[in-house]
Amino acid sequence: MPSDSFTLRPATASDEADIKTLIKLVRINPMDLDWRRFLLASTPDGGLAACAQIKPHADGTRELASLAVSPAWRGRGLARRLVEALIAREARPIYLTCRSGLESFYQKFGFRALEKDELTPYYRRLQKLANTMMKLGGGAETLSVMRLDE
Ligand SMILES: CC(C)(COP(=O)(O)OP(=O)(O)OC[C@H]1O[C@@H](n2cnc3c(N)ncnc32)[C@H](O)[C@@H]1OP(=O)(O)O)[C@@H](O)C(=O)NCCC(=O)NCCS
Repeated sequence: MPSDSFTLRPATASDEADIKTLIKLVRINPMDLDWRRFLLASTPDGGLAACAQIKPHADGTRELASLAVSPAWRGRGLARRLVEALIAREARPIYLTCRSGLESFYQKFGFRALEKDELTPYYRRLQKLANTMMKLGGGAETLSVMRLDE
């Protein structure tokens, strides 16, 4: 099924359970999943194919988060469509966090990985904690904090 068979639409309350199920399935951060902030890609029969959100933080920054594409629908440009639609309507800067292996994916949209001395206190704490946990888990990856400025 080509990418343009899928519809992008804002989530509604009835999508809440499906969003949580997809986020759990792809094993990314299950916190802060308020459906009101989500943009979805729906299959022609109305199923949830992919989702993403822009999360506001208390310090005034915004974060692209919860990007998840159902395994069956990957490689069709759905993540690209969601990211492009969300960043098109947001002011800059936009932050995100990802495992280091995904930096090249987000670079396609203009995001740049930040050095430690560029991080806000929130992201500095988060990166330190996540990297400790990832190291304990025995993986080779670290947590990248990226930002889109233009
Ligand atoms: C990563 C993920 C969102 C990609 O979704 P997708 O719909 O298959 O991606 P797209 O088809 O839109 O790909 C867009 C571009 O990124 C590239 N890309 C896709 N997955 C990639 C990956 N894991 N690493 C690097 N590049 C990737 C594609 O080749 C494509 O490149 P092009 O446009 O230059 O041809 C999806 O695999 C996923 O949900 N993974 C699990 C959850 C996750 O890790 N989310 C990110 C949390 S930070």
